[in-house]
Amino acid sequence: MDLGLKDKVALVTGSGSQIGFGRAIAVTLAKEGCNIISADMDIEGAKKTAEEVKGLGVKAIAVKADISKNDEVQEMVKASIAEFGRIDILVNNAGTPGGGPPNSEEQWDITVNVNFKGTWYVTNAVAPYMTKQKYGKIVNFSSAVSRSGIGGLYAAAKEAVIGLTKAWARQFGPQGINVNAIAPGMGDTNFQVLAHATPEQKQMFINSVPMRRLTSQQDIANTVAFLVSDVSSDITGQTIQVDGGDFMI
Ligand SMILES: NC(=O)c1ccc[n+]([C@@H]2O[C@H](COP(=O)([O-])OP(=O)(O)OC[C@H]3O[C@@H](n4cnc5c(N)ncnc54)[C@H](O)[C@@H]3O)[C@@H](O)[C@H]2O)c1
Repeated sequence: MDLGLKDKVALVTGSGSQIGFGRAIAVTLAKEGCNIISADMDIEGAKKTAEEVKGLGVKAIAVKADISKNDEVQEMVKASIAEFGRIDILVNNAGTPGGGPPNSEEQWDITVNVNFKGTWYVTNAVAPYMTKQKYGKIVNFSSAVSRSGIGGLYAAAKEAVIGLTKAWARQFGPQGINVNAIAPGMGDTNFQVLAHATPEQKQMFINSVPMRRLTSQQDIANTVAFLVSDVSSDITGQTIQVDGGDFMI
């Protein structure tokens, strides 16, 4: 199936982690012919991803931005528009498991400001360009755990992302913009639990999942490619679980 993504411009936040979902998304969209803006607070990682996708024959830039800081987000979008003149696809992948002592205000500030407010900042900065184009695809990142409440504030912030996804789908649908979310299962990235899990703990988790596997970077990238293509034009406001059946909605 031709996804029709050739020459589209895709901004992927959090694509600096070399073992993360974001890099796999950037590479997969580049293989489909998209030009890539690789954004991350880790600029060295973002540069590595941009170089890798350039090797696939598309154009790419790396931009440093902490998505919880609105001034940096504005600069990121300005740099993207200066380079490409448009943004067709926004993948709000950057996220954090949080930080600070449990139930502290510090934990709230990190967890909510990155996962929830950061997604809000980036979309607010990009949406006016998509609205002007009357075309756009936005994919937000929730988490499988948001469906269960496991994970405290992180789960709550990721559930809030689902709320934003629905609100934006209604707001931007008439402008030709699809807004969906992905709720990934446990993946072997730099992220949260697995980065610190023992092989036994990993296996116990795998045994509890219907598909008896972790969620791979490519599982997520494939779903993003589908959602940002016109093949899925009639899908909006949805959150797709990509988690081996861990949570069934
Ligand atoms: N890995 C999992 O098990 C899992 C499960 C569910 C959801 N997710 C979500 O998937 C997304 C990608 O995470 P990952 O698993 O690839 O983790 P990762 O840690 O490998 O990658 C996350 C990337 O986001 C970047 N980032 C973090 N905070 C940022 C900020 N404030 N501004 C800009 N960039 C920032 C990091 O530098 C890193 O490059 C996140 O939104 C995460 O919440 C991950």
